[in-house]
Amino acid sequence: MTAANSQSAHACTAVVGLQWGDEGKGKIVDLLAPSYDAIVRYNGGANAGHSVVVGGERYALHLVPSGILYPGKQSIIGNGVVVDPEVLIRELDGLASRGVDVSGMVISDRAHVVMPYHKAEDELREKLLSQAGNVSTAGEAGEPAQASRAIGTTKRGIGPCYADKAHRATAVRVEDLLRPDVLKRRLRHICALKNAYLQAMGGEKTYTPEELIAWAEPMGRRLAPSIGDTTYLLHDMLGAGKRVLFEGANAALLDVDHGTHPFVTSSSTTVLGIPSGTGVPGSRIGNVIGVVKAYSTRVGNGPMVTEQINAVGDRIRERGREYGTTTGRPRRVGWLDLVAVRYSAMLNGVSSLAVMLLDVLSGLDELRVCTSYKLGGGTITGRFPPDADILSVAEPVYETLPGFPDEITTVRVREQLPAQARRYLDLIERFVGVPISHVSVGPDRAQTIIGQ
Ligand code: IMP
Repeated sequence: MTAANSQSAHACTAVVGLQWGDEGKGKIVDLLAPSYDAIVRYNGGANAGHSVVVGGERYALHLVPSGILYPGKQSIIGNGVVVDPEVLIRELDGLASRGVDVSGMVISDRAHVVMPYHKAEDELREKLLSQAGNVSTAGEAGEPAQASRAIGTTKRGIGPCYADKAHRATAVRVEDLLRPDVLKRRLRHICALKNAYLQAMGGEKTYTPEELIAWAEPMGRRLAPSIGDTTYLLHDMLGAGKRVLFEGANAALLDVDHGTHPFVTSSSTTVLGIPSGTGVPGSRIGNVIGVVKAYSTRVGNGPMVTEQINAVGDRIRERGREYGTTTGRPRRVGWLDLVAVRYSAMLNGVSSLAVMLLDVLSGLDELRVCTSYKLGGGTITGRFPPDADILSVAEPVYETLPGFPDEITTVRVREQLPAQARRYLDLIERFVGVPISHVSVGPDRAQTIIGQ
């Protein structure tokens, strides 16, 4: 690697979640943001929820990159994001009303627009899938009754919007908001197709090009100054030696290709999504921080091998305030699954781990960590099978460690953690094979142990 290459490689850092989301990526982005010139979203949409506390104020962001909270930083929504313009404008207005300067945000003209019918489609698909699952196929077909096949989506229209991106002819991109005449003509065939599809699914509402233009045009005008070619913008910044931070939304195990399919989201959530979602090649990314919660949580349906539907799970949920930022749903809770985390760390090529919410585990008598799965036929594996049907019958094999009774929220140096907590961290590092760079022991920015 030449000196120039190596310098540019380190100009980019990615922060990605290694489980099913809500690992605390927002806090790590918040810690790192001051050292970067641009903070970039590359995937997902308003399904994500980042809570950041800055200057004692709590901000819940869904679409706007958390970099917006830092004056002088460029906040970029890359082409891989699906943008709900209503949510975006509401979020920008909310930030502006709290005195945040939102002028430094740029949205890719190539990002796709979540249209009102996408949300209707998301609802209808979920309803039909859950009904289909409830119909017992036992007996005649000789098959067991099926559990619901609904994904448990956030109903933000994410899947239908990405599906239209793949369908192409029915896609609407952010640049289309800037040319309502062209969009209106295209909406004729889009509405014809969408209405037929929605009605076939039992939907009652149909859409006209006129009403959709009336919805889109004012938002296009409003967002116009913030819409641009973010691919050139990013390459120009990198060429000028600027530093770029990529903020992953959702998380690795929800990745459309590599997650627990089909119970995943519809985007490339890992660092593998950065090149396609921004136009910046992977060779530019020199540092990847994998964010991992000290236990597991999941929102929505799908397998979770270490789930605890019991008093331990309830206790962790309450202590960790494990309720969705986007939907308010109680999160499913389980022990730390290192088989899954090691898989995600491998996919993301992580350079270091940030272990979050360690304080939530204090006071438990013992801690369990899953280090392999027992599959059908007694096979034991340390490999993660990213397939919902295989995972749903996998049984966890745990290592049990002593718990740490003391509160750790005031600890700032790893050596000063209780020995049991250090043992827990050592096991994570050894098993995943990656050093821990951050340990979070409370929600505040200061409640972080930095360095090994
Ligand atoms: P969708 O992204 O709304 O289509 O939902 C697909 C699955 O991903 C559901 O199980 C959601 O609960 C889950 N999901 C999507 N985004 C997030 C997130 O940011 N955190 C946690 N779960 C998420």
